[in-house]
Amino acid sequence: MYTQAMDTMGKPLQAAAPASAQEEALQQRFDTRIDAGEFIEAKDWLPDHYRKTLVRQISQHAHSEYVGMLPEGNWVTRAPTLKRKAILLAKIQDEAGHGLYLYSAAETLGTSRDQMLDALHSGRAKYSSIFNYPTLSWADVGTIGWLVDGAAIMNQVPLCRCSYGPYARAMVRICREESFHQRQGFDALLVMMQQGTDAQRAMVQDSVNRWWWPSVMMFGPPDDQSPNSALSMRWGIKRNSNDELRQKFIDACVDQAKVLGVQLPDPDLKWNEERQHHDHGVIDWDEFWRVVGGDGPCNRERLAARVKAWDDGAWVREAALAHAAKEAGRERAVA
Ligand code: 3HC
Repeated sequence: MYTQAMDTMGKPLQAAAPASAQEEALQQRFDTRIDAGEFIEAKDWLPDHYRKTLVRQISQHAHSEYVGMLPEGNWVTRAPTLKRKAILLAKIQDEAGHGLYLYSAAETLGTSRDQMLDALHSGRAKYSSIFNYPTLSWADVGTIGWLVDGAAIMNQVPLCRCSYGPYARAMVRICREESFHQRQGFDALLVMMQQGTDAQRAMVQDSVNRWWWPSVMMFGPPDDQSPNSALSMRWGIKRNSNDELRQKFIDACVDQAKVLGVQLPDPDLKWNEERQHHDHGVIDWDEFWRVVGGDGPCNRERLAARVKAWDDGAWVREAALAHAAKEAGRERAVA
Protein backbone atom coordinates (compact mmCIF):
# COMPACT_ATOMS: atom_id res chain seq x y z
CA MET A 1 0.00 0.00 0.00
CA TYR A 2 2.90 2.36 0.40
CA THR A 3 4.04 3.08 -3.14
CA GLN A 4 2.86 2.32 -6.62
CA ALA A 5 4.00 -1.00 -8.01
CA MET A 6 3.58 -0.37 -11.69
CA ASP A 7 5.88 2.63 -12.01
CA THR A 8 3.41 4.95 -13.73
CA MET A 9 3.57 7.46 -10.88
CA GLY A 10 5.42 10.65 -11.54
CA LYS A 11 5.10 10.33 -15.32
CA PRO A 12 3.46 13.13 -17.30
CA LEU A 13 -0.27 12.76 -17.92
CA GLN A 14 0.14 12.79 -21.73
CA ALA A 15 0.66 9.50 -23.49
CA ALA A 16 4.31 9.08 -24.58
CA ALA A 17 5.07 10.29 -28.12
CA PRO A 18 5.34 7.43 -30.67
CA ALA A 19 8.98 6.64 -31.52
CA SER A 20 8.77 5.77 -35.24
CA ALA A 21 6.52 6.27 -38.29
CA GLN A 22 5.31 2.71 -37.85
CA GLU A 23 4.47 3.30 -34.21
CA GLU A 24 2.77 6.53 -35.13
CA ALA A 25 0.51 4.64 -37.54
CA LEU A 26 -0.26 2.06 -34.84
CA GLN A 27 -0.99 4.81 -32.34
CA GLN A 28 -3.36 6.50 -34.82
CA ARG A 29 -5.19 3.26 -35.47
CA PHE A 30 -5.46 2.68 -31.72
CA ASP A 31 -6.86 6.21 -31.16
CA THR A 32 -9.38 5.74 -33.99
CA ARG A 33 -10.60 2.49 -32.49
CA ILE A 34 -10.90 4.08 -29.04
CA ASP A 35 -12.86 6.98 -30.54
CA ALA A 36 -15.15 4.53 -32.34
CA GLY A 37 -15.85 2.77 -29.02
CA GLU A 38 -14.33 -0.53 -30.16
CA PHE A 39 -12.96 -3.06 -27.69
CA ILE A 40 -9.17 -3.41 -27.62
CA GLU A 41 -8.07 -7.03 -27.29
CA ALA A 42 -5.00 -8.70 -25.77
CA LYS A 43 -3.27 -9.39 -29.10
CA ASP A 44 -3.77 -5.84 -30.41
CA TRP A 45 -1.01 -3.25 -30.39
CA LEU A 46 -1.31 -1.14 -27.21
CA PRO A 47 0.49 2.05 -26.19
CA ASP A 48 2.79 1.26 -23.29
CA HIS A 49 1.10 3.73 -20.95
CA TYR A 50 -2.36 2.27 -21.72
CA ARG A 51 -1.01 -1.19 -20.83
CA LYS A 52 0.58 0.05 -17.58
CA THR A 53 -2.53 1.96 -16.57
CA LEU A 54 -4.65 -1.14 -17.07
CA VAL A 55 -2.23 -3.38 -15.17
CA ARG A 56 -2.20 -0.84 -12.34
CA GLN A 57 -5.98 -0.56 -12.11
CA ILE A 58 -6.87 -4.22 -12.73
CA SER A 59 -4.24 -5.55 -10.31
CA GLN A 60 -5.31 -3.06 -7.61
CA HIS A 61 -8.87 -4.18 -8.21
CA ALA A 62 -7.88 -7.87 -7.93
CA HIS A 63 -5.96 -7.20 -4.71
CA SER A 64 -9.03 -5.41 -3.33
CA GLU A 65 -11.19 -8.46 -3.95
CA TYR A 66 -8.66 -10.69 -2.18
CA VAL A 67 -8.09 -8.42 0.80
CA GLY A 68 -11.84 -7.71 0.85
CA MET A 69 -12.49 -11.28 1.96
CA LEU A 70 -10.79 -10.64 5.30
CA PRO A 71 -13.13 -8.18 7.09
CA GLU A 72 -16.17 -10.39 6.42
CA GLY A 73 -14.27 -13.62 7.01
CA ASN A 74 -14.01 -12.40 10.60
CA TRP A 75 -17.76 -13.18 11.02
CA VAL A 76 -18.16 -16.56 9.31
CA THR A 77 -17.97 -18.52 12.56
CA ARG A 78 -20.25 -16.06 14.35
CA ALA A 79 -23.05 -15.60 11.78
CA PRO A 80 -26.37 -15.60 13.67
CA THR A 81 -28.15 -18.30 11.60
CA LEU A 82 -27.27 -21.10 9.19
CA LYS A 83 -28.91 -19.13 6.36
CA ARG A 84 -26.79 -16.03 7.01
CA LYS A 85 -23.65 -18.16 7.32
CA ALA A 86 -24.34 -19.86 3.96
CA ILE A 87 -24.94 -16.48 2.28
CA LEU A 88 -21.76 -15.02 3.79
CA LEU A 89 -19.65 -18.01 2.74
CA ALA A 90 -21.03 -17.81 -0.82
CA LYS A 91 -20.29 -14.08 -0.95
CA ILE A 92 -16.70 -14.49 0.25
CA GLN A 93 -16.19 -17.29 -2.26
CA ASP A 94 -17.47 -14.94 -4.98
CA GLU A 95 -14.86 -12.34 -3.98
CA ALA A 96 -12.12 -14.94 -4.40
CA GLY A 97 -13.53 -15.73 -7.84
CA HIS A 98 -13.58 -12.03 -8.76
CA GLY A 99 -9.92 -11.76 -7.77
CA LEU A 100 -9.10 -14.73 -10.02
CA TYR A 101 -10.95 -13.31 -13.07
CA LEU A 102 -9.19 -10.00 -12.55
CA TYR A 103 -5.70 -11.47 -12.11
CA SER A 104 -6.36 -13.44 -15.33
CA ALA A 105 -7.44 -10.27 -17.15
CA ALA A 106 -4.26 -8.51 -15.97
CA GLU A 107 -2.13 -11.48 -17.06
CA THR A 108 -3.32 -10.95 -20.67
CA LEU A 109 -1.36 -7.67 -20.51
CA GLY A 110 1.92 -9.49 -19.99
CA THR A 111 2.34 -9.39 -16.23
CA SER A 112 2.47 -12.56 -14.18
CA ARG A 113 0.33 -13.39 -11.17
CA ASP A 114 3.50 -13.93 -9.14
CA GLN A 115 4.65 -10.38 -9.97
CA MET A 116 1.29 -8.93 -8.95
CA LEU A 117 1.12 -10.90 -5.72
CA ASP A 118 4.69 -10.01 -4.89
CA ALA A 119 3.77 -6.33 -5.26
CA LEU A 120 0.84 -6.85 -2.87
CA HIS A 121 2.78 -8.86 -0.30
CA SER A 122 5.73 -6.50 -0.26
CA GLY A 123 3.43 -3.51 0.31
CA ARG A 124 4.24 -1.88 -3.07
CA ALA A 125 0.74 -2.34 -4.52
CA LYS A 126 -2.42 -0.55 -3.50
CA TYR A 127 -5.79 -2.08 -2.70
CA SER A 128 -9.04 -0.37 -1.77
CA SER A 129 -8.84 1.82 1.33
CA ILE A 130 -12.18 0.48 2.59
CA PHE A 131 -10.81 -2.90 3.58
CA ASN A 132 -8.54 -1.36 6.19
CA TYR A 133 -11.45 -0.72 8.54
CA PRO A 134 -12.47 -3.27 11.21
CA THR A 135 -15.72 -5.29 11.36
CA LEU A 136 -16.72 -4.81 14.98
CA SER A 137 -20.29 -6.16 14.94
CA TRP A 138 -22.52 -8.49 12.93
CA ALA A 139 -24.26 -5.40 11.53
CA ASP A 140 -20.97 -4.52 9.80
CA VAL A 141 -21.45 -7.55 7.53
CA GLY A 142 -24.81 -6.13 6.39
CA THR A 143 -23.43 -2.60 6.08
CA ILE A 144 -20.50 -3.80 3.97
CA GLY A 145 -23.03 -5.43 1.63
CA TRP A 146 -25.27 -2.36 1.47
CA LEU A 147 -22.68 0.44 1.34
CA VAL A 148 -19.36 -1.10 0.27
CA ASP A 149 -20.78 -3.44 -2.36
CA GLY A 150 -23.24 -0.70 -3.31
CA ALA A 151 -20.32 1.68 -3.94
CA ALA A 152 -18.46 -1.08 -5.77
CA ILE A 153 -21.41 -1.63 -8.15
CA MET A 154 -21.76 2.10 -8.81
CA ASN A 155 -18.06 2.22 -9.72
CA GLN A 156 -17.93 -1.08 -11.58
CA VAL A 157 -21.01 -1.11 -13.83
CA PRO A 158 -19.38 1.49 -16.13
CA LEU A 159 -16.29 -0.75 -16.25
CA CYS A 160 -18.37 -3.32 -18.18
CA ARG A 161 -17.92 -0.82 -21.06
CA CYS A 162 -14.21 -0.36 -20.43
CA SER A 163 -12.24 -0.21 -23.69
CA TYR A 164 -10.11 -3.25 -22.81
CA GLY A 165 -12.16 -6.35 -23.73
CA PRO A 166 -10.84 -8.89 -21.18
CA TYR A 167 -11.43 -6.46 -18.28
CA ALA A 168 -14.87 -5.43 -19.56
CA ARG A 169 -16.00 -9.05 -19.94
CA ALA A 170 -14.75 -9.99 -16.46
CA MET A 171 -16.71 -7.04 -15.06
CA VAL A 172 -20.03 -8.22 -16.54
CA ARG A 173 -20.04 -11.33 -14.39
CA ILE A 174 -18.57 -9.56 -11.37
CA CYS A 175 -21.30 -6.93 -11.43
CA ARG A 176 -24.06 -9.56 -11.52
CA GLU A 177 -22.61 -11.11 -8.39
CA GLU A 178 -21.99 -7.75 -6.69
CA SER A 179 -25.66 -6.98 -7.14
CA PHE A 180 -26.53 -10.07 -5.07
CA HIS A 181 -23.94 -8.98 -2.49
CA GLN A 182 -25.52 -5.55 -2.14
CA ARG A 183 -29.03 -7.00 -1.79
CA GLN A 184 -28.12 -9.57 0.85
CA GLY A 185 -26.52 -6.80 2.93
CA PHE A 186 -29.53 -4.52 2.61
CA ASP A 187 -31.83 -7.44 3.48
CA ALA A 188 -29.81 -8.37 6.59
CA LEU A 189 -30.01 -4.77 7.82
CA LEU A 190 -33.72 -4.45 6.98
CA VAL A 191 -34.55 -7.54 9.03
CA MET A 192 -32.69 -6.12 12.03
CA MET A 193 -34.27 -2.68 11.64
CA GLN A 194 -37.85 -3.94 11.14
CA GLN A 195 -37.99 -7.11 13.23
CA GLY A 196 -35.08 -6.65 15.63
CA THR A 197 -34.69 -5.34 19.14
CA ASP A 198 -33.73 -1.78 20.09
CA ALA A 199 -30.19 -3.05 20.69
CA GLN A 200 -30.04 -4.49 17.16
CA ARG A 201 -31.31 -1.24 15.64
CA ALA A 202 -28.68 0.68 17.61
CA MET A 203 -26.03 -1.75 16.38
CA VAL A 204 -27.07 -1.09 12.75
CA GLN A 205 -26.97 2.68 13.26
CA ASP A 206 -23.53 2.48 14.88
CA SER A 207 -22.29 0.42 11.96
CA VAL A 208 -23.65 2.87 9.37
CA ASN A 209 -22.02 5.72 11.30
CA ARG A 210 -18.62 4.02 11.01
CA TRP A 211 -18.84 2.86 7.37
CA TRP A 212 -20.53 5.83 5.66
CA TRP A 213 -17.55 8.13 5.19
CA PRO A 214 -15.03 5.40 4.27
CA SER A 215 -17.56 4.18 1.65
CA VAL A 216 -17.90 7.69 0.21
CA MET A 217 -14.08 7.82 -0.02
CA MET A 218 -13.89 4.54 -1.96
CA PHE A 219 -14.49 6.41 -5.24
CA GLY A 220 -11.04 7.98 -4.96
CA PRO A 221 -9.80 11.55 -4.60
CA PRO A 222 -11.80 14.50 -5.93
CA ASP A 223 -11.56 14.96 -9.70
CA ASP A 224 -9.18 17.91 -9.48
CA GLN A 225 -6.78 15.77 -7.40
CA SER A 226 -7.05 12.56 -9.42
CA PRO A 227 -3.84 12.23 -11.46
CA ASN A 228 -4.97 9.22 -13.49
CA SER A 229 -8.50 10.24 -14.46
CA ALA A 230 -7.78 12.40 -17.52
CA LEU A 231 -5.97 9.73 -19.52
CA SER A 232 -8.10 6.88 -18.21
CA MET A 233 -11.20 8.70 -19.42
CA ARG A 234 -9.60 9.63 -22.74
CA TRP A 235 -8.86 5.94 -23.29
CA GLY A 236 -12.30 4.75 -22.21
CA ILE A 237 -10.92 2.80 -19.23
CA LYS A 238 -12.95 4.95 -16.84
CA ARG A 239 -16.30 6.12 -18.21
CA ASN A 240 -17.21 8.43 -15.32
CA SER A 241 -15.18 10.61 -13.00
CA ASN A 242 -14.66 9.83 -9.31
CA ASP A 243 -16.91 12.71 -8.21
CA GLU A 244 -19.71 11.81 -10.64
CA LEU A 245 -19.91 8.27 -9.31
CA ARG A 246 -19.61 9.42 -5.69
CA GLN A 247 -22.56 11.77 -6.23
CA LYS A 248 -24.68 9.02 -7.81
CA PHE A 249 -23.90 6.76 -4.86
CA ILE A 250 -24.83 9.40 -2.28
CA ASP A 251 -28.09 10.20 -4.08
CA ALA A 252 -29.05 6.51 -4.21
CA CYS A 253 -28.18 5.88 -0.55
CA VAL A 254 -30.35 8.70 0.79
CA ASP A 255 -33.56 6.96 -0.32
CA GLN A 256 -32.31 3.53 0.72
CA ALA A 257 -31.46 4.86 4.20
CA LYS A 258 -35.06 6.11 4.51
CA VAL A 259 -36.40 2.63 3.68
CA LEU A 260 -34.07 1.12 6.28
CA GLY A 261 -34.87 3.76 8.87
CA VAL A 262 -31.24 4.72 9.54
CA GLN A 263 -29.61 8.16 9.60
CA LEU A 264 -26.64 8.84 7.35
CA PRO A 265 -24.06 10.56 9.61
CA ASP A 266 -23.78 13.78 7.62
CA PRO A 267 -25.69 16.82 8.99
CA ASP A 268 -24.97 18.71 5.74
CA LEU A 269 -26.67 16.15 3.53
CA LYS A 270 -29.58 17.88 1.81
CA TRP A 271 -31.35 17.97 -1.55
CA ASN A 272 -30.20 20.76 -3.85
CA GLU A 273 -33.09 21.59 -6.20
CA GLU A 274 -30.87 23.52 -8.58
CA ARG A 275 -28.29 20.74 -8.99
CA GLN A 276 -30.90 17.96 -8.72
CA HIS A 277 -28.46 16.19 -6.41
CA HIS A 278 -27.76 16.01 -2.69
CA ASP A 279 -25.16 18.34 -1.27
CA HIS A 280 -22.94 16.65 1.29
CA GLY A 281 -20.50 17.55 4.06
CA VAL A 282 -16.74 17.87 3.79
CA ILE A 283 -14.89 14.60 3.19
CA ASP A 284 -11.84 14.02 5.39
CA TRP A 285 -9.25 13.51 2.64
CA ASP A 286 -6.43 13.46 5.22
CA GLU A 287 -7.94 10.28 6.63
CA PHE A 288 -8.24 8.82 3.11
CA TRP A 289 -4.58 9.44 2.26
CA ARG A 290 -3.47 8.15 5.66
CA VAL A 291 -5.27 4.87 5.02
CA VAL A 292 -4.06 4.65 1.40
CA GLY A 293 -0.55 5.35 2.67
CA GLY A 294 -0.61 2.31 4.96
CA ASP A 295 -1.64 3.86 8.27
CA GLY A 296 -5.30 2.89 8.55
CA PRO A 297 -6.81 0.95 11.47
CA CYS A 298 -6.12 -2.50 9.95
CA ASN A 299 -3.52 -2.07 7.17
CA ARG A 300 -0.79 -4.05 8.88
CA GLU A 301 -3.17 -6.81 10.00
CA ARG A 302 -4.65 -7.18 6.49
CA LEU A 303 -1.28 -7.42 4.77
CA ALA A 304 0.06 -9.85 7.38
CA ALA A 305 -3.00 -12.08 6.88
CA ARG A 306 -2.49 -12.16 3.09
CA VAL A 307 1.22 -12.95 3.44
CA LYS A 308 0.47 -15.72 5.94
CA ALA A 309 -2.15 -17.25 3.60
CA TRP A 310 0.42 -17.19 0.78
CA ASP A 311 3.13 -18.80 2.94
CA ASP A 312 0.74 -21.41 4.36
CA GLY A 313 -0.30 -22.34 0.82
CA ALA A 314 3.27 -22.96 -0.37
CA TRP A 315 2.97 -26.73 0.06
CA VAL A 316 -0.18 -26.78 -2.11
CA ARG A 317 1.58 -24.93 -4.93
CA GLU A 318 4.60 -27.23 -4.64
CA ALA A 319 2.40 -30.36 -4.64
CA ALA A 320 0.44 -29.11 -7.69
CA LEU A 321 3.67 -28.44 -9.59
CA ALA A 322 5.11 -31.84 -8.64
CA HIS A 323 1.87 -33.52 -9.76
CA ALA A 324 1.90 -31.63 -13.08
CA ALA A 325 5.54 -32.62 -13.67
CA LYS A 326 4.73 -36.27 -12.91
CA GLU A 327 1.75 -36.24 -15.30
CA ALA A 328 3.85 -34.62 -18.03
CA GLY A 329 6.54 -37.31 -17.50
CA ARG A 330 3.89 -40.08 -17.82
CA GLU A 331 2.52 -38.55 -21.03
CA ARG A 332 6.03 -38.34 -22.49
CA ALA A 333 6.67 -41.99 -21.57
CA VAL A 334 3.42 -43.11 -23.29
CA ALA A 335 4.25 -41.08 -26.42
N1 3HC B 1 -8.25 3.05 -2.10
C1 3HC B 1 -6.92 3.00 -2.33
N2 3HC B 1 -6.32 3.74 -3.30
C2 3HC B 1 -7.10 4.54 -4.03
C3 3HC B 1 -8.49 4.65 -3.85
C4 3HC B 1 -9.06 3.84 -2.83
N3 3HC B 1 -10.37 3.88 -2.53
N4 3HC B 1 -9.00 5.52 -4.73
C5 3HC B 1 -7.95 5.99 -5.46
N5 3HC B 1 -6.82 5.39 -5.02
C6 3HC B 1 -5.47 5.62 -5.50
C7 3HC B 1 -5.36 5.29 -6.97
O1 3HC B 1 -5.10 3.92 -7.14
C8 3HC B 1 -4.20 6.17 -7.39
O2 3HC B 1 -2.97 5.62 -6.95
P1 3HC B 1 -1.85 5.10 -8.03
O3 3HC B 1 -1.73 6.15 -9.08
O4 3HC B 1 -0.66 4.89 -7.19
O5 3HC B 1 -2.41 3.84 -8.61
C9 3HC B 1 -4.38 7.40 -6.53
O6 3HC B 1 -5.20 7.00 -5.43
C10 3HC B 1 -5.05 8.54 -7.27
O7 3HC B 1 -6.38 8.17 -7.64
P2 3HC B 1 -6.95 8.31 -9.13
O8 3HC B 1 -8.35 8.78 -9.04
O9 3HC B 1 -6.02 9.08 -9.99
O10 3HC B 1 -6.88 6.76 -9.59
P3 3HC B 1 -7.78 5.98 -10.64
O11 3HC B 1 -8.01 6.80 -11.87
O12 3HC B 1 -7.19 4.64 -10.82
O13 3HC B 1 -9.22 5.84 -9.93
C11 3HC B 1 -10.49 4.09 -8.87
C12 3HC B 1 -9.34 5.11 -8.72
C13 3HC B 1 -11.78 4.84 -9.05
C14 3HC B 1 -10.54 3.20 -7.63
C15 3HC B 1 -10.20 3.22 -10.13
O14 3HC B 1 -8.91 2.67 -10.06
C16 3HC B 1 -11.18 2.11 -10.34
O15 3HC B 1 -12.31 2.32 -10.77
N6 3HC B 1 -10.75 0.84 -10.06
C17 3HC B 1 -11.54 -0.35 -10.32
C18 3HC B 1 -12.45 -0.68 -9.21
C19 3HC B 1 -11.73 -1.01 -7.92
O16 3HC B 1 -10.55 -1.27 -7.87
N7 3HC B 1 -12.47 -1.03 -6.82
C20 3HC B 1 -11.90 -1.34 -5.53
C21 3HC B 1 -12.93 -1.87 -4.67
S1 3HC B 1 -13.27 -3.53 -5.13
C22 3HC B 1 -14.42 -3.95 -4.12
O17 3HC B 1 -14.91 -3.09 -3.52
C23 3HC B 1 -14.71 -5.40 -4.00
C24 3HC B 1 -16.11 -5.66 -3.69
O18 3HC B 1 -16.28 -7.00 -3.58
C25 3HC B 1 -16.62 -4.99 -2.51
